[in-house]
Amino acid sequence: MSLPAVLQGSFRLPVMSAPMFLASGPELVKAQCQAGIIGSFPALNARPTSLLDDWLSEIAEDNAAFARRNPDATVAPFAVNQIVHRTNTRLEQDMEVIVKHKVPIVITSLGARPEVNEAVHSYGGIVLHDVIHNRFAQKAVEKGADGLIAVAAGAGGHAGTQSPFALVQEIRVWFDGPLMLSGAIAHGRSILAAQAAGADMAYVGSAFLSTQEANIVPEYRQMVLDSSASDVVYSNYFTGIHGNYLRGSITAAGYDADALPTPEEGASPASARAAGSKAWKDVWGSGQGIGALKETTTVSGLVERFESEYHEAIEQLNQQTLSTNTISVS
Ligand SMILES: Cc1cc2nc3c(=O)[nH]c(=O)nc-3n(C[C@H](O)[C@H](O)[C@H](O)COP(=O)(O)O)c2cc1C
Repeated sequence: MSLPAVLQGSFRLPVMSAPMFLASGPELVKAQCQAGIIGSFPALNARPTSLLDDWLSEIAEDNAAFARRNPDATVAPFAVNQIVHRTNTRLEQDMEVIVKHKVPIVITSLGARPEVNEAVHSYGGIVLHDVIHNRFAQKAVEKGADGLIAVAAGAGGHAGTQSPFALVQEIRVWFDGPLMLSGAIAHGRSILAAQAAGADMAYVGSAFLSTQEANIVPEYRQMVLDSSASDVVYSNYFTGIHGNYLRGSITAAGYDADALPTPEEGASPASARAAGSKAWKDVWGSGQGIGALKETTTVSGLVERFESEYHEAIEQLNQQTLSTNTISVS
């Protein structure tokens, strides 16, 4: 199956940035698109819905103005994330705004609904649904999703537990449509590896927490830079769904990161909130790939680094090819 037109554009790199609750706002999205990779943000970051309308106008206008000023630059499209869960009381309102602005790519999470897919298809947009295992992937495509985002172990936010190889292998048995792979990708070499594993693009979230455009407090950015994979704790304590969080922020919020209460022990998101903790705002989300981030930079600086690492990785494989004659990458 060939990729939909919106994913066939000329990107600087095969990278789609991942939406991050609170952290992804218009500044980050514009910088991502203008650096030549797909930008994204969760609709719920724009509060109230009228702000979503404003953000979508701002992003489209700013990207268009940038493209006019820089006719040779690659300006990538953007995506909006919809949480398709019964707790999202804004879903219908936000869908109206998304349809009005003809958002080119919609990412659906925590539930697949045919009417959401139909609304996006009505103006020619595409829907990518994020999944943590193959069964959910099959259901999403049955309900009309155009593509899939495989959220593997080690990803930021509500991550899965499966190996990226296992997940992509199982999905690629039956699905040849658009497939993104996520989980701890923070180096150009890992972007190439996602493609080699069978994905069309790498889906990258936490790495952008290191950039100046991420809408987070400086202490959060610094903790991302100072931490590595072993500082990431996987727990369902804070939201009721398993996710990856920075150990330092859990400790600062007054918890023992190694002994978080489980739901079986009576803990619930409500009890966590009552204890004074707020998932995402005080207890900071992050994937395991942050060990590759050593300094804060702009989005454009990070994409530049990814680009040179990506091409270097291709070069290294080609060198190996010369010596072994077994691998060929162009
Ligand atoms: C702080 C943070 C907040 C996130 N919020 C959301 C969200 O609101 N919606 C969503 O679909 N995914 C969310 N995610 C998951 C990302 O979209 C993506 O799957 C993940 O970041 C990819 O793994 P990586 O962080 O290791 O690159 C979040 C991730 C992080 C780190």
